Amino acid sequence: MVVTHPILEPGPALLAEMCEVRRLPDQYRHTVETLRQAAQGAQGMVSQLMDAIGEEVLSTPGLKVVANVAVGYDNIDVAAATKHGVMITNTPGILDDTTADFAFTLLMAAGRRLVEADRFVRSGAFGGWAIDMLLGHDISQSTIGIVGFGRIGRGVARRARAFGMRVLYYDEQPATAEAEKELMARRVDMHRLLEEADFVSIHVPLTEATRHMFSTEQFAAMKTSAVLINTSRGPVVDEAALAQALSSGQIFAAGLDVYEREPHVHPDLLKLENVVLAPHIASASVRTRSQMSEVAARNVLAGIRGGRPANLLNPEVLNRR
Ligand code: DGY
Repeated sequence: MVVTHPILEPGPALLAEMCEVRRLPDQYRHTVETLRQAAQGAQGMVSQLMDAIGEEVLSTPGLKVVANVAVGYDNIDVAAATKHGVMITNTPGILDDTTADFAFTLLMAAGRRLVEADRFVRSGAFGGWAIDMLLGHDISQSTIGIVGFGRIGRGVARRARAFGMRVLYYDEQPATAEAEKELMARRVDMHRLLEEADFVSIHVPLTEATRHMFSTEQFAAMKTSAVLINTSRGPVVDEAALAQALSSGQIFAAGLDVYEREPHVHPDLLKLENVVLAPHIASASVRTRSQMSEVAARNVLAGIRGGRPANLLNPEVLNRR
């Protein structure tokens, strides 16, 4: 079995106990050809979000399972996997709180200009208290608009409630009445959410329908005091349009953890003071990343042994055996 990038313990220990493990050379993004060759002779693969796992890889004879060490799996062609009888798994449930914590960290940092303030002090510009210095926007008692109300979106809502925020959400699927009641959350259409929210936090998966879901038109509908947070996938936001909205004052600030062409960041964003930029670390706590590694290892081992992995995304493959 093959591991495309290092994972954290106890993942490697579990794998080494059960099977022969091949590791790929250290490289951020492997070429399709490298991945295709790596799959030869392997029954299982542990992949990460930088690996584009398409038909070339998934059609490899003998490959049974690909375990992605992430909850998102837009890097994998699941339809092609199903066609070739390959099981695909992800790591849901483990990183919800860690990611919701980080979305809230970005929300507070961007709304209250924390990173800009840190740069200000370090540059020696702090000459003493001033009534109008680095004014931001209140989090308490404001309105948050959550786009995508799955586990992470609801986690953000829970944190927002603790800050006394009003919670609006947009999702094609309504939440249960109990969840709406617990979180005091109201489902609205996208237009209303954009018009009323002081903070907009994105938690949708990347699909053809969500690509550039946020672009010029959406920024124009938002308040000029609004803050946009994205911890989902970069291509959900049109980065050039966002840089324009931020530099023209169309919206107040943004906090980003993900980018359209990672690890490349749009050069116009890098020039702006009113955007907090993080390097895709929303799930990066010691405990969570270690649990993600463990779950991916258990998923791949279950698949190799012919069982049903706990986080199987395409159970249809089981009927084809
Ligand atoms: C995921 O799991 O999809 C994150 O982007 C990385 O933790």
